[in-house]
This record gives sequence, structure tokens and C-alpha cells, in this order.
Amino acid sequence: MKGIILAGGAGTRLRPLTKITSKQLLPVYDKPMVFYPLETLKAAGITDILFIIAPSNSGDFLNLLGSGNEFGCDFTYEIQDSPDGIAQAFLIGEKFIGNDEVTLILGDNLFEDDFSEAIDSFETGARVFAKKVSDAQRFGVVDFDDEFKAKHIEEKPKNPKSDYAVTGLYVYDNTVIEKAKSLAPSARGELEITDINNLYLEEGTLDVRLVNGRWLDCGTMESLYEATTMMREKVLAKK
Ligand code: G1P
Repeated sequence: MKGIILAGGAGTRLRPLTKITSKQLLPVYDKPMVFYPLETLKAAGITDILFIIAPSNSGDFLNLLGSGNEFGCDFTYEIQDSPDGIAQAFLIGEKFIGNDEVTLILGDNLFEDDFSEAIDSFETGARVFAKKVSDAQRFGVVDFDDEFKAKHIEEKPKNPKSDYAVTGLYVYDNTVIEKAKSLAPSARGELEITDINNLYLEEGTLDVRLVNGRWLDCGTMESLYEATTMMREKVLAKK
């Protein structure tokens, strides 16, 4: 299982902070944000990791993370020239993924859960993780039938059919590369991860699990502040 941490994007919603460095390098209490998704992958036993980063501030990532030695990992880097969507990660990462399976995590997503079992037990198709939220319009939203089987996923719907957001952690078999190649850009000009998930759903191979612990996407000032508060509480509780 290979790992990809997607840390591209311009972080426009966090300006002027993101004029200094990338969103994923901003502090979340006592650590740079990207350490958290890295820890999530490591905890699940994934150590062969590709960072996909924007051209600006790419040197900051290298300075911070280096070869991966210090983290007991093997790090590779690729540049995403422009923020053309999450699914582009599988085109940029094609060589890195090779013939393997891949877990993608967004560089601004913070999870409390341990995903070892969900990733170890993965065999084929796709596995994604949903969480009940109060602001579903901000996310990919999955709705379920009476047997809690996923029916459809919609990207940032104005009128969400459920309160379940698809979080930024995705486990895929190798067909994700071909699926990414078949996508056309969405109305907002991006290769959408939601379109990939819907392709698996149509095939009948999308497994949706629920996230038990807290989950935060730090894309906005409010969620970044919330993340900092959450991590501070956790650190202080350990003392
Ligand atoms: C992206 C995805 C969305 C997902 C979210 C999780 O949103 O497009 O489906 O629910 O990440 O953080 P974006 O980061 O583009 O707002």
C-alpha cells in the first residue's frame, strides 16, 4: 500500500497566512498541519509516501520533511503546477503508485481515528470514510438507502440529501489511475474525487465506513482555529 498526501492548492481562504507559507505547513497548536495526516498514514503502517505540493513554498516542505528518514519513512515529492483537483493526484502519482494500491489523504484533514484495520483489510475497489456534519454543503455528501448502503455522492450540493460528509481519506485499488484518466473537469474546472468515488459506486465496489472520532478539515479560518483548540486539549490532557 502506497500513501499520497495531497498538499497543493493556494489556500486562498486562509490569506494572508498562506502568503507566508502553504496552508498545510501552518501551525495547528504545536505542529505543522501536515504532521497530522502523516501520522494517520504512519499509524496505519504506510511509510512509502508521496507528497504532492504546489510550486510555491515547495522548499519549505523539503526543509521540514526531507527524505523521510527522520520519520521512519521514505518520502517522494511531486509538484502540482495548478490546483486542478484532488483526482489529479493519481495522474501526477501514476509512476509512484506503480502496480500498487494507494491511500490518499488530504494534507489539511485531521482525524482522531486509527485506520489500521480499515486499510489492512482492504482488498479491492474503494473504501471511503464518512462523518456526520452540520455543514454538509462544504463537502462531498453521501446519502444512504434503508440498509445504509451508499446511493450517491454529490460534491458540495446546495441541498444535501444527508448530513454525511465524505472525509479526505480514500483507499483505492490500482484501477484508480485509469478512472482518473477517464474524468473530465467539473463545472469548477477540477478533476473531482467525488467523480472517482461515483465510478466505484456504479461498479458496486465502493465501501463507505463511518468515522468514529473527531474529524476536521482545516480549509477555513474557523476550522483551523477549531483544530488548534482540539489539539491543544489533547496535548494538555496527556500532561
Ligand atoms: C474536498 C473534496 C470533498 C471532501 C473534502 C474533505 O473538498 O472535494 O469531496 O468532502 O475535500 O475535506 P475541498 O477541499 O475541495 O473543499
